[in-house]
Amino acid sequence: MSRKITVKTMQKYKDEGQKISMLTAYDYSTAKYIDEAGVDVILVGDSVAMVVLGYESTCSVGIEEMKIFTGAVARGAKNALIVGDMPFLSCDCDISSAVKNAGELIKAGANAVKIEGCSEYLLSVVKRLVETGIPVMGHLGFTPQSFNVMGGFKVQGKTREAVENILKQAKALENAGAFSVVLEMVPQDCAKYITENLTVPTISCGAGKYCDGQVLVSDDAFGKYSDFCPKFVRRYCDMKSLILECAKKYNDDVKNGNFPCSEEVF
Ligand code: KIV
Repeated sequence: MSRKITVKTMQKYKDEGQKISMLTAYDYSTAKYIDEAGVDVILVGDSVAMVVLGYESTCSVGIEEMKIFTGAVARGAKNALIVGDMPFLSCDCDISSAVKNAGELIKAGANAVKIEGCSEYLLSVVKRLVETGIPVMGHLGFTPQSFNVMGGFKVQGKTREAVENILKQAKALENAGAFSVVLEMVPQDCAKYITENLTVPTISCGAGKYCDGQVLVSDDAFGKYSDFCPKFVRRYCDMKSLILECAKKYNDDVKNGNFPCSEEVF
């Protein structure tokens, strides 16, 4: 039976104490299987830049690429809430361009967009998007698009002052209309404190078990991307080994004349 997840479902899950599951996907088939598996939210993350396109950071994709990946995921997933990631600089322009960019992801099939950071300006963008009818997921703590400013991939919220600052930002996002907030790479106790003081659901990306939900990059969780693996990732599969094994077998079969066989020809 179809059970389309909406932003309201996510709030209901938090209110009832039910955990929210979220994975990234970037293509039709992966989205279809993740959806079939019952995962609540599919994020078309700008992590696509690194794990699919092989760039060194997430800053290397733009709205045109994100539209293509979002469309593919939307065609594959029936029930999951689809969140399109707003890529680097797609919000930090004038407000009407930010609305246009977010609108492109919605037109491509996303049900909501995710925005990294929380400047005064970004809060006004969030407010306008929500007024326009575009739900917004916030993203605080370590925000990969700002890794140059943050001095690399570093855990955030390590001091009392930093924790209070993240809570202040999370509340500001909630007040601006965000329907949930991703907390990336902050200590578990920090995420717990923020989760308990926020009405909307928090989603942990390396922020421990007390958030209302969890997100992982699927290429990390399935063991496909192997350039590096963050400490907080749990590997559910070793796709790299599976692909290597299959590609080697295929290579041998072709070289030895074992492929194709009589059943595989016209
Ligand atoms: O782009 C992405 O995949 C993300 C998650 C890591 C939260 O933003």
